Amino acid sequence: MRPRSTTDTPAAPPAGRQLSRRQYVRFAFYKLDPAWRRLPEDEQAAQKRELSSVIQNFNRRMLLRPYSTVGTRADCELLLWQITESPLVFQELATALLRTRMGSYLQIAYSYFSQTKRSVYEIRVGGADSSEEEERLVIDPSEAKYVFVYPFIKTRDWYQLSKHTRQGVMDEHIEVGKKYPSIRLNTTYSFGIDDYEFILAFETDEPADFLDLVQELRETESSRYTLQDTPLFTCVNLRLDEALDTLGGPPIAEALAAGEARESWVEVCPLADLAPGQARTVFLEGKMVGVFNIKGEILAINNRCSHARGPLCEGTINSDECSVVCPWHYGKFDLRTGAAIDGVVKKPVETFQTKIENEMIWVGTKLL
Ligand code: FES
Repeated sequence: MRPRSTTDTPAAPPAGRQLSRRQYVRFAFYKLDPAWRRLPEDEQAAQKRELSSVIQNFNRRMLLRPYSTVGTRADCELLLWQITESPLVFQELATALLRTRMGSYLQIAYSYFSQTKRSVYEIRVGGADSSEEEERLVIDPSEAKYVFVYPFIKTRDWYQLSKHTRQGVMDEHIEVGKKYPSIRLNTTYSFGIDDYEFILAFETDEPADFLDLVQELRETESSRYTLQDTPLFTCVNLRLDEALDTLGGPPIAEALAAGEARESWVEVCPLADLAPGQARTVFLEGKMVGVFNIKGEILAINNRCSHARGPLCEGTINSDECSVVCPWHYGKFDLRTGAAIDGVVKKPVETFQTKIENEMIWVGTKLL
């Protein structure tokens, strides 16, 4: 990615708010041919490592989260949730996976292709912050243990209702959703680009809350207008090596003691390619990280603003203050600590380790 030029002078807020492009999203569910489980164990382990390495390589170019559906669904076993700004990367990843030895045993059981966009309805109940609308443009998966993938289609009668009537129905629907704060909703849209209309991904640590939410939504007016909302997928959030181990064969995941975190590093770019006052992004462990050169010091924070996921690397950098101002609503963050220091932002953003080795910039997970 090209580094963005920034100035050290805090700019006056631009006349028009800068908005990120929509993101493309793919939910690819795989099923493993049982013949693979009869291969020699050393071959199974080698194939899992090869597959893991290919996926990790793409993890630098897109946001990619692995989940297992082993034990929750019979017809698929592995989900790769992929988020990027160019759908062509999905094709490159799919092709690279097919070229691996294990790829010849993997079948795509389900595939859903969608995009983020603003809702046509106002989220206006329960004192909702208007920033929720902008959050919808950016998927930023949490660390929740489960994601429930929920593709659905509404009836054509729904679209014949007046906008005012639909808004009223959605108000009731949204009101019910707000009773379940443990559930985080990611809404994506598939009109015309895939078979469904909406692909929802609900993240939570509490499957019981999700069950209760869906049951309660069945009693709302909006449920009358659902044409199809199956299949449904209960997916367990795991590290990539752990997810591959659920498929069978000898374990390749490093065993970690309880509470122990694993350090993970990713190469960013040559130091010479990130001039002072510039920033760029890199993906690390399913997160988009913003990497900043502040007078020669390399600093890294989560690129998604804690307010509504604005892209901090596209903000205004102040090298003297070691801060960045979010381009969406001008919240300010300290680049060393990630602290929210001014404006609408209240919560800090995550910080990451950085190092320079052989004139190359690296970013790593921060161990607590
Ligand atoms: S997204 Fe609102 S201040 Fe960053």
